[in-house]
Amino acid sequence: TPRVFSGIQPSGNLHLGNYLGALKRFVDMQGPEKETVYCMVDLHAITVWQEPKELAHSTRELCAGFIAAGIDPEQSILFNQSQVPEHTQLAWIFNCVARMGWMQRMTQWKDKAGKNQQNASLGLLAYPSLMAADILVYHATHVPVGDDQKQHLELTRDIAIKFNNDFGVDFFPITEPVIEGAATRVMSLRDGSKKMSKSDPSDMSRINMTDDADTIAKKIRKAKTDPDALPSEVDGLSERPEARNLVNIYAALSNQTTDEVLAEVGGKQFGEFKPMLADLAVAKLSPISTEMARLMGEEAEIDRILAKGADKARAIAAPILRQTYEIVGMVGAK
Ligand code: TYM
Repeated sequence: TPRVFSGIQPSGNLHLGNYLGALKRFVDMQGPEKETVYCMVDLHAITVWQEPKELAHSTRELCAGFIAAGIDPEQSILFNQSQVPEHTQLAWIFNCVARMGWMQRMTQWKDKAGKNQQNASLGLLAYPSLMAADILVYHATHVPVGDDQKQHLELTRDIAIKFNNDFGVDFFPITEPVIEGAATRVMSLRDGSKKMSKSDPSDMSRINMTDDADTIAKKIRKAKTDPDALPSEVDGLSERPEARNLVNIYAALSNQTTDEVLAEVGGKQFGEFKPMLADLAVAKLSPISTEMARLMGEEAEIDRILAKGADKARAIAAPILRQTYEIVGMVGAK
């Protein structure tokens, strides 16, 4: 059976990019003939400073977000990374397989470390090695992510290939990135050349999963656009990043292709399209935020779900780590 793995960092607000690029697709991938494993990657979050209280809050809120969006903890394994030590144990082995140069080439490292790389945490540099361990400690075959994680998934394949070659085994699978749908790269509502992100200083640039209906409508009304009517074919969006972004968001929220949406709205002005998009966004997102808020009132229930998920995850990860130790020549592995 195919095994799906993916993760989201509990480092602040979940936004529409996380939802359309990842979470909604995690829900779509649940099914009887698949094993789905979804993780709150708290160890990745702390590669940059997190206030301990906020990390705990964000982890529980993210777990509530997963469930509110439609992840069923009985059907999927839902847990936080720090509670399954096999991730970090395998990551250490990968730190010794991967090369420094591979890490230094990552665009996320360059962006997040900024000019003063000497002052970035060592964890931030090793980040992709832990990410490869997250995936490979389950021998996961499919990894749904947004477009910005593509380079990290290529590195995961490189690490698996080098491990298999170095030790002369065929042990770790070569994972398939699953980057599909109309919204694999949701852009900022204020600037169509920047991706929507939790680190953008302007809250108007993103829709948070916890925003209420009025806020969502206001952000869409104020979203940057151009003065032209919408085209009726995708080609007509090529030089219009803001228009393309809003149409892609509409498509992903309504489970349509961009072409199908343009067949319906081509010729309309933004004055007409934006209220349609706002209504759709509110209809799809407010049940999720309401359910998130309800679940956040049941902290003990969330902690119980995470603990149970961690037990199920360890049952898969522990034997794979044991076999890895044996391959590497570590004595004592049973
Ligand atoms: P993170 O926490 O930054 O984002 C979580 C998921 O949301 C996607 N995403 C977007 N998709 C479309 N448009 C956007 N504007 C947008 N912003 C974020 C991301 O692509 C991601 O799928 N390194 C990962 C977490 C991780 C992971 C893993 C993922 C750790 N281990 C193993 C997969 C497998 C990250 O920082 O995602």
